[in-house]
Amino acid sequence: ERRQNPMSTVRTQNLKNACRALERSTDRTSTWRPVFHLAPVTGWLNDPNGLCQIGETHHIFFQYSPFDVKPGLNYWGHYTTEDFIHYQYCEPALCSDEKFDCHGVYSGSALGQDGTMYLFYTGNVLRRDREDYDYTTAGREHNTIRAESEDGLHFTKKTVLLYNEDYPADLTCHVRDPKVWKDGDSFAMVLGARRKDDVGEVLVYRSDDLKVWTLANRITSQKPFGYMWECPDCFELQGTRFLSFSPQGVAAEDWKYQNIYQSGYCRLEGDLYGEYTLSAFEEYDHGFDFYAPQTYTDRQGRRILIGWLGMPDSDYGYPEREFGWANLLTIPRVLHEKNGRIQQKPLPELQQLRSAEQTVVVQQEFSCRTAAAYEAEIRLTAGKSLRVQFGTDGVLTWDGSFLTLEFGASGCNRPMRQVPLERLEQLRLFCDTSSVEIFANEGEAVFTSRFYADAEQSKLTVQAEQAEVHLWEMQPFC
Ligand code: FRU
Repeated sequence: ERRQNPMSTVRTQNLKNACRALERSTDRTSTWRPVFHLAPVTGWLNDPNGLCQIGETHHIFFQYSPFDVKPGLNYWGHYTTEDFIHYQYCEPALCSDEKFDCHGVYSGSALGQDGTMYLFYTGNVLRRDREDYDYTTAGREHNTIRAESEDGLHFTKKTVLLYNEDYPADLTCHVRDPKVWKDGDSFAMVLGARRKDDVGEVLVYRSDDLKVWTLANRITSQKPFGYMWECPDCFELQGTRFLSFSPQGVAAEDWKYQNIYQSGYCRLEGDLYGEYTLSAFEEYDHGFDFYAPQTYTDRQGRRILIGWLGMPDSDYGYPEREFGWANLLTIPRVLHEKNGRIQQKPLPELQQLRSAEQTVVVQQEFSCRTAAAYEAEIRLTAGKSLRVQFGTDGVLTWDGSFLTLEFGASGCNRPMRQVPLERLEQLRLFCDTSSVEIFANEGEAVFTSRFYADAEQSKLTVQAEQAEVHLWEMQPFC
């Protein structure tokens, strides 16, 4: 066990001060700033981390690299909310201030236990000094670390739980993103890993005291599915257990796995700590920008998911970067199980942001101007096809067998994406100033993407034999 080095307190303060100075000097009103999405104040955001509700407060941490609009020395940024309408921006919760996390405080999770809030994360250390240094296979340390806090804002004690040499010897140095939860009388942790033979898997650890962790299982698919599984998560929905992860190295197949990396889940049947089977992988999302989601249960028992509204190693020329910030988090979604698959429904609290409702019954075609940030719900009441044009050049079509999304310049000129869909009853579109999230049939299929429509020209056109359209302007959250 290693405890905090006193010099790191000085380092932490310096890092936080530098971060605050940059945050103060960044224009928070620039074009593309979202109305109802979380974004970094300055610099770069990636995965959501440490999602939890403790007392009344929901904590939303995120991978945060404030000094550049690309991933760098990642910290944990921190927002809190009690109602998903009012948010507090807090100072970074974790900084890279120890030898064992000196090249980045990477992704992980949170757990409240006996009045203490624990954060579990990966301390990234690049060992360029080593002869066998190689970014992908060797020469990194991925330490599994626990930090503690009494007030949920200041995290001091850092304890290393697992070093590279503690992981199985047939793994590369890529072992990261601890997700910890209480499982019966003990605690469970899953970690994403890359084997030396380039197969992705999940390690399952167990602990009775949150400090000593024992390897209990290694989980992978029957046939190799990518070389690395990032950001694992494991949870039950209505009695069905799911293993969620973000695999890298999966080849595109007809309409599937179209992004550089994927995010999805398998049903995990059998014993998490013993014999198990994994069902076929299902993608969470079919848009261009969705990755590394994480879930937690709130006090009402809802399983809430938030994803990174972005994609690693992909720059499609996202325009906000010239204003000194990059990326968003998705809106929170409540998960449900239906026929062995996961449905994602927008968190109902967001309805409080609705204003200026319009309701229209569409016969053949309806068109209107929209605000820069709006929600539209479309119910298809007759016919076997639908075409929705949104923003300046976003097009969503359903032809009775596929739901297809196409973008022009506002979607960074990216090719189309689609998903098979035999039945379409309902669509919800959440359009913000620089993103769109589309939920079909109560979240049976979802498309999430950055989308930069010209607010002055933004229109919604619905073409269908018959449909009902509800449209709301979305008020900014505060
Ligand atoms: C996923 C990821 C994680 C890692 C973090 C670093 O996007 O690569 O595996 O912990 O980002 O920022």
